[in-house]
Parts: sequence; structure tokens; C-alpha cells
Amino acid sequence: MRVLLIGFGTVGQGLAELFIQKEKLLKDRYNLEIKVVGIGDMLKGSLYSKDGLDLEQALKAVSSGGKLKVLPNQFDGDALALIKSAEADIMVEATYTDIKTGQPATSHVKAALEKGMHVTTTNKGPVALFLPELIELAKDRGVRFLYEGTVMSGSPMLNLARETLAGSNITEVKGILNGTTNYILSEMEKGNGYDETLKKAQELGYAEAVPDADVLGWDALAKVTIIANAIFGSNNKPDDFPCKGITEITPKAIAEAKERGKRFKLIGKVWLEDDKVKGSVAPEEIDISHPLAGVMGATNAITYTTDTLGDITIVGPGAGRVETGYSALIDIIHIGGKR
Ligand SMILES: NC(=O)c1ccc[n+]([C@@H]2O[C@H](COP(=O)([O-])OP(=O)(O)OC[C@H]3O[C@@H](n4cnc5c(N)ncnc54)[C@H](OP(=O)(O)O)[C@@H]3O)[C@@H](O)[C@H]2O)c1
Repeated sequence: MRVLLIGFGTVGQGLAELFIQKEKLLKDRYNLEIKVVGIGDMLKGSLYSKDGLDLEQALKAVSSGGKLKVLPNQFDGDALALIKSAEADIMVEATYTDIKTGQPATSHVKAALEKGMHVTTTNKGPVALFLPELIELAKDRGVRFLYEGTVMSGSPMLNLARETLAGSNITEVKGILNGTTNYILSEMEKGNGYDETLKKAQELGYAEAVPDADVLGWDALAKVTIIANAIFGSNNKPDDFPCKGITEITPKAIAEAKERGKRFKLIGKVWLEDDKVKGSVAPEEIDISHPLAGVMGATNAITYTTDTLGDITIVGPGAGRVETGYSALIDIIHIGGKR
């Protein structure tokens, strides 16, 4: 399988490392041989060789802030030009997320699908804003568009719904979809104030310098929209759902909830009401006996309510270099692996 990597940052490099580590497993278990033919990155530079690139060399070149520009097989052009001219079977889109416009990722995804490449992405933008359209385009071209890494990173929550819960009706999905806010709420339970906890989260690299996307709930809202469209088959945009973050929660409110046997969590939720798909993001007091209440720190979790099994909860990482790279590997195996 010839792979094109667009975006060679944390996730792109994590996936490249997995291709190297798991080369034998992929061949033995899935009869899958990966050949990365192109890498497109904005500042680090771009490479293309139809015979395949040396991934170890590429990883070494970008370690400690280095560039691909020092290597052979230079491609002269931007990511879109690379997608349009490359011969590849699958494109991995791992550039930065813009949840307002979905760009540049949506243009990359469309160009690859139009060319007849399968696509996997970890980028929430195109999926939260344009999923039905992109699925339609993929169907039209006879290829697949998968996006496991957009919610809960490599913890396979979308595959769980699509493949493993086959034949079940899912009536509600509710979860902790943002690790930063869950870390902040967990720390505040120890009696620390919001501002000092946010500062600590920023120092530890859990929160951005401008933390709005996390603390105001927008990141969770994008994931709620992906769940609504991917699992409930709706055609929603993030603005369709109410969204409230954690900025008004105080240590006092957390302590009072604890006395009532409850714990505050920022909950992203999608459910069916009178056959209509509803969604929301808001802090909720969760009963301490519920599996979601025990999920602390930067971990993510989701509970599916089904007609066949009742509740099923999956708990796992929601971010990370290898964890998110692994989500793209799952999709690639589903697309190209043979058992
Ligand atoms: N990291 C995680 O744990 C995680 C988890 C779930 C989902 N995601 C999503 O996965 C995607 C990648 O995340 P990341 O952590 O790898 O981000 P990152 O480290 O910032 O890497 C993004 C890469 O994309 C490149 N890029 C940006 N615009 C580009 C363009 N127009 N053409 C080509 N390359 C471009 C950047 O290039 P330069 O740096 O050279 O400018 C950078 O190397 C994001 O959408 C993110 O939201 C990440």
C-alpha cells in the first residue's frame, strides 16, 4: 500500500514510527506492506519518490526541529500539489485543525478522494464540518474515508460503534471527550482554584497558551458533532448544539457535589429524542457510581447506551504521539489489510 503523509508533526511522525516498528506484524498478520511514497509538510519540506522513502532517515532529519529539506527526493510544491501529482493508494491527513473553516485539511481530503485515494485523518475540522459530503465523494470514487483519530485519539470508539456493536441500536453516546478539562476538574477536586490549575496544565503541556478551545468546550463540541454525524447519521454542524465549558465551575461547587455523591465532568452528549438527533456539551454532575465518574486526569471515556447490551463504556487515551498515530494505523489496516 503506497501511503502519502500530509502533515509530518507529532501524529505524522508517530505513525511513521509505528510503520517501522510494526513492519513484520503488518506483513505476517494482514499481508500488508506499507511504502510511504510522499511526505508533505509546510515548514519542514516535502519529499516524493514512487519507489518509497527512507522513513528512518526522514524521522532523523526532523528530530530536534530539523527539516526534510536536507534529504534526497525533494518535492517542489505545497501539500495540495503533492496530492495532485503523487501516485498513492491512501492519504493520511494530519495537518493542524481549524474547526471554523476545516482548512487546509478539507482541500487536502477532497483532492485525495477525487483522485481515487483512500483517506484517513486525525483532523477534526473536515469531519465535524463536512462528513456527509466527504463520505458521498468517497463512495462516488469507490474509496474509503475513515477518521478514527478524531475522537478519543487511538482509543477505538468509532470502530466500536461501527464494527463491534454491529446490529445494536445506539440511543445515546455520552463521554469525557477533552482531556485538558478533565485534568483541570480532577485537580480542582483537590481544592486548587481554576486559574492556578489552568496555569499548571499549561506548564505541563496539557493546555494551550490560549486555552479557549478546551475550557470553553469547543473541542468537545467538534467531537460531539462528529459523533452525531458518524454514529447517528445526521447532518449537523457544531453551531447546532448548545455548548458550555468549565470556566464557571468553582472548587466550592465541586466540593458540594462530592458531598452529594457526585462529581463534575465536562460531558459531550448525543442522543435520540422523538427520532431527532440532539447534542450538547456542558458540565454535569455524574453519580460517583457511574463509570465516567472514575475517569480522572487527561484520560477520555465514552458510554454507549444500546438496545442490546445496555451501557458499554470505553476508557482510554484521548491524545498522544503514538496513540494518535495508531488511530491512522487502525484505519489503514481496515482499508488495506487482508486476514
Ligand atoms: N497530537 C494529538 O494528540 C492529537 C490527538 C487527536 C487528534 N489530533 C489532530 O491531528 C492533527 C495533527 O496533530 P499534531 O499533534 O501532529 O499537530 P502538529 O504537531 O502541529 O503537526 C501538524 C503538522 O502539519 C503541518 N502543516 C500545517 N499546515 C500544513 C499545510 N498546509 N500543508 C502541509 N503541512 C502542514 C505542520 O507543519 P509545520 O510545523 O512544518 O508548519 C505540522 O508539521 C491535528 O489536526 C490535531 O488536531 C492530534
